[in-house]
Amino acid sequence: MTISVQGVISRAKGEPVEVTTILVPEPGPGEALVTVQACGVCHTDLHYREGGIGNDYPYLLGHEAAGVVDAVGPGVTDVAPGDFVILNWRAVCGHCRACRRGEPWYCFSTHNATQKMTLEDGTALSPALGIGAFIEKTLVAAGQCTKVDPAIPAATAGLLGCGVMAGIGAAINTGGVTRGKSVAVIGCGGVGDGAIAGAYLAGAHTIIAVDVDDRKLAWAKDFGATHVINSRNTDPVAGIQELTGGNGADVVIEALGRPETYKQAFYARDLAGTVVLVGVPTPEMTLELPLLDVFGRGGALKSSWYGDCLPSRDFPMLVDLHLQGRLPLDKFVSETIGLGDIEEAFAKMGRGEVLRSVVTL
Ligand SMILES: NC(=O)c1ccc[n+]([C@@H]2O[C@H](COP(=O)([O-])OP(=O)(O)OC[C@H]3O[C@@H](n4cnc5c(N)ncnc54)[C@H](O)[C@@H]3O)[C@@H](O)[C@H]2O)c1
Ligand SMILES: [Zn+2]
Ligand SMILES: [Zn+2]
Repeated sequence: MTISVQGVISRAKGEPVEVTTILVPEPGPGEALVTVQACGVCHTDLHYREGGIGNDYPYLLGHEAAGVVDAVGPGVTDVAPGDFVILNWRAVCGHCRACRRGEPWYCFSTHNATQKMTLEDGTALSPALGIGAFIEKTLVAAGQCTKVDPAIPAATAGLLGCGVMAGIGAAINTGGVTRGKSVAVIGCGGVGDGAIAGAYLAGAHTIIAVDVDDRKLAWAKDFGATHVINSRNTDPVAGIQELTGGNGADVVIEALGRPETYKQAFYARDLAGTVVLVGVPTPEMTLELPLLDVFGRGGALKSSWYGDCLPSRDFPMLVDLHLQGRLPLDKFVSETIGLGDIEEAFAKMGRGEVLRSVVTL
């Protein structure tokens, strides 16, 4: 039986998002219906609305979510009704070439629900990142549900489903940050502060936060930044070099996805250091760099998809670290809002007033 719920869609490029009625099928084989309790507003949702990700409108937005499994379809054994779960966009297949070589965090054939959620007129929706969670109940592949300790509030837990995990993983999984390393993070939104929290957790010695907004830099300190640079007033490359004995940082994480900040990251790292691109560029962006510098500076230029995380390994572990008081995930939640407040949340994100607005249902 199909159910009828309220959800938030982006109908056309650049148009304001709207709350509308959405029809959700009952879970089929390998699927789960989840009652969404909380879903964060990520910059990627805005990228969808702006046409930066694709042209498969209408999109059902929202993808940083936690909730309770309501029902499961035939053959689902990993989760059951009543389980508290964080939704992920990496339900690994186990069979692709990445999975077969033992690197499932790169899985090239991840699962989403097979059936489509639709508008009342039958128009199929494209769920953001294969999730779609600004909605009362959503349909996902069962593998997109990762069971975690229900002692964590849903608004806090949901953020691990995308941006905060992407940031933490960019530092620890992709960047290989370990005890004693120097790290710089350019762009201190939810993703960048996740990277700072990850670098802190891993024992980095120097953690430099770079942003153009002093409020963001103050928050970055709460997650473990040892130094801050406002790149409106200070050249970030020179600033990072000065704070690292003139050398540059071992790992520089770009959490914006823009050519100019990528170049800053490239030149602000030490010889043989690592650049991690976790910010998502838009299709028209290009990068020009002297090839001799790419060669001569050595090291690694990496991209981080979802923090190279494995949800089944990383979500329960990070929730436990939070519950033990070692990872302040709750500080990412700036405010809780309703389904009708997403446009305002985008505006607040643009003005730098929030780290994460989280829709609670
Ligand atoms: N790789 C992934 O898997 C993944 C996952 C989630 C999000 N993302 C991407 O990460 C990026 C950041 O997302 P977010 O939600 O943290 O965004 P956000 O808008 O919350 O944060 C961006 C931050 O950058 C700062 N900023 C703007 N211009 C700057 C500049 N020139 N120099 C330094 N700082 C500047 C802003 O003040 C803000 O603090 C987005 O591109 C998003 O799509 C990537
Ligand atoms: Zn796979
Ligand atoms: Zn996201």
